[in-house]
Amino acid sequence: MNPAVAQQRIAELRAQIAHHDELYYRHAKPEIGDRDYDRIKAELAELEDQFPEFAVESSPTRRVGDDRLEGFQTYRHRQPMQSLDNTYSEAELRAFHARLVKLFGKEDLAYVVEPKIDGLAVSVTYEQGKLVRAVTRGNGEEGDDITANAKTIRTLPHELTAVKGCAFPDAIEIRGEIYFTTAEFQRINAEREEAGEALYANPRNLAAGTIKQLDTKEVAKRKLEIVLYGVGFCEPAIAESQTQFHELVKAWGLPTVERAWPAKGVDEVWAAVCELDKLRHSFRYGTDGAVVKLDSFRLQREAGRTSKAPRWAIAYKFEPERAETRINAITVQVGRTGVLTPVAELEPVQLSGTTVARATLHNRDEIERKDIRVGDYVLVEKAGEIIPAVIEVNVKRRAPECHPYKFPEVCPECGTAVVQYEGEVALRCPNASCPAQVRRRLGHFVSKAALDIDGLGIAMIDELVTRGWVKELPDIFKLRREDLLTLGKDVAKSTDNLLAAIDASKRTELWRVIHGLGIPHVGVAAAKDLAAHFRDLEKLAEAKVEDFIVKKETTIPGIGEVMARAIVGFFNEPRNRALVADLLRAGVQPTAPAKREAAAQNALFAGKTFVLTGTLPTLTRDEAGAMIEAAGGKVSGSVSKKTSYVLAGGEAGSKLEKAQQLGVPVIDEAEFRRMLAT
Ligand code: IVH
Repeated sequence: MNPAVAQQRIAELRAQIAHHDELYYRHAKPEIGDRDYDRIKAELAELEDQFPEFAVESSPTRRVGDDRLEGFQTYRHRQPMQSLDNTYSEAELRAFHARLVKLFGKEDLAYVVEPKIDGLAVSVTYEQGKLVRAVTRGNGEEGDDITANAKTIRTLPHELTAVKGCAFPDAIEIRGEIYFTTAEFQRINAEREEAGEALYANPRNLAAGTIKQLDTKEVAKRKLEIVLYGVGFCEPAIAESQTQFHELVKAWGLPTVERAWPAKGVDEVWAAVCELDKLRHSFRYGTDGAVVKLDSFRLQREAGRTSKAPRWAIAYKFEPERAETRINAITVQVGRTGVLTPVAELEPVQLSGTTVARATLHNRDEIERKDIRVGDYVLVEKAGEIIPAVIEVNVKRRAPECHPYKFPEVCPECGTAVVQYEGEVALRCPNASCPAQVRRRLGHFVSKAALDIDGLGIAMIDELVTRGWVKELPDIFKLRREDLLTLGKDVAKSTDNLLAAIDASKRTELWRVIHGLGIPHVGVAAAKDLAAHFRDLEKLAEAKVEDFIVKKETTIPGIGEVMARAIVGFFNEPRNRALVADLLRAGVQPTAPAKREAAAQNALFAGKTFVLTGTLPTLTRDEAGAMIEAAGGKVSGSVSKKTSYVLAGGEAGSKLEKAQQLGVPVIDEAEFRRMLAT
């Protein structure tokens, strides 16, 4: 390659990497898999090696990505937070060992092999055993302060357990990973599916998206987990090896890797990596590789590091599992809100321990982009991704009779012409009475997380909709016994049970009905918040945007602006207003939760309004706000005569002055804590 072409290609690759870094680190929405990303980086590294005149310090081959976002305070790590070099081959793993053998002049170097957890990197600081800070990697030098969000992680102790004969270090930055278990990932995605929201492709994206939420209360609703696997900065030193560090971390009560393999020499390292590969499918969380580390901290220091990664450790990444199989058919499903989703019906194939027979094709654009056709052989992958994806078509195996796929122009269920709303990728069936939509809406309405009606499974719902007995949700309360009895022999008992369950559901909890309506974005947690606030279905249906948002601030805990607009938009539809009226007419009388205000009347800060200003010594505003609300108080943004207290920290400005002018009591954090302790 001549230098001019190389220079051009290097610029292209850097631009591609910058684009993918932005999506991965800042938006947690990567377009390509890790393997493809690593390939682009490897090509760039090779070109920079060949043409050192174009290698610059700022190249992505020499620095880590950057996850910092607007809205967070940044914090400088006391010791830079590096990344790891990746490899996918045994030969490269052996070459890593050979370099260290050359450096230290001995073969049987002691290593530790650990699972590589697929989450996002975090640095947690404890001072004298007390948790003081959690920070993301950021650009390696400084990251976003996510302390308030990290404190919602139930397994992260705010104070370490004392260990006999071992004083706490003055300060220690412990490195680790924040992640979701597979089960929690699936729970959240199921909730999103019910709320008609886009699904997260893998737990890593969800973890990154969650920890970077600005609203700590939203973070607390999800069960994030953390694992700690390394020392960044420590004063004074507390361990001499990774093995000792693991023991100490465990004794302090911190969650650490569930297994670490000691290994002498590269053959034992490889054996451990292979064992981990076999075991990893039984872990509660996704593991995308093994991390191999020199055990001795002294040898680690001697091996040193490059600007991006240590020379004493390497990540061996497992190949994402892929398999080739045939697309037997493409079916198009109609969702609750009419969205058409194409699904590849596959020749069943074994992948990551499960049989895969279907894969989502997302939408029409995706099929066109990959030119996926019925009869094609395709590569299916399940990597960190839990939902199988079609990666690419094996065009060499394409039969001549395979024609481009033509996306239906009419709804496959009701024949209505499909539409595409402005700004949306999805195609929709606009007919709200489409039987497929009714079936889905009804399925959701009676599901466990909504009215929870026993005896109304998919088959029964199909019958009710096909026979035309149920066209809208309230129709289930109008079902006639004599009609149901015609559904088969010996159905008297099950019919009576079903009718009794339907009748009982009329007095279910309000949040179940709200969730069951299928308002976009409204999952179980939001439905509970709405029920607690409005306490009446009609009041919710009549709410205006101003009832949710005042002066650009949302007024109902847990309900953000997007959701507020979706709720108001939903009830602006005459069809949905009629639905509520019909439900009430059919005798649905949901019970409201015990009054929050009543419960809070005796609370310490009941009726009190606080204004927060300045920087508090140990609490963030979110934390102080959450403590006030938990004690029944309210937090307001501006000081008035009605303000009960101004909670002021360092560098408080005009709010403090105003409080003094109006004679509003001003308290500091210590006083605030004393009040809470009473
Ligand atoms: S050690 C100096 N150990 O994987 C870097 N990293 O792809 C020390 N990771 O940046 C990192 N599990 O965010 C280490 N057991 C483990 C890990 C681990 C996951 C992450 C970490 C790292 C990335 C590299």
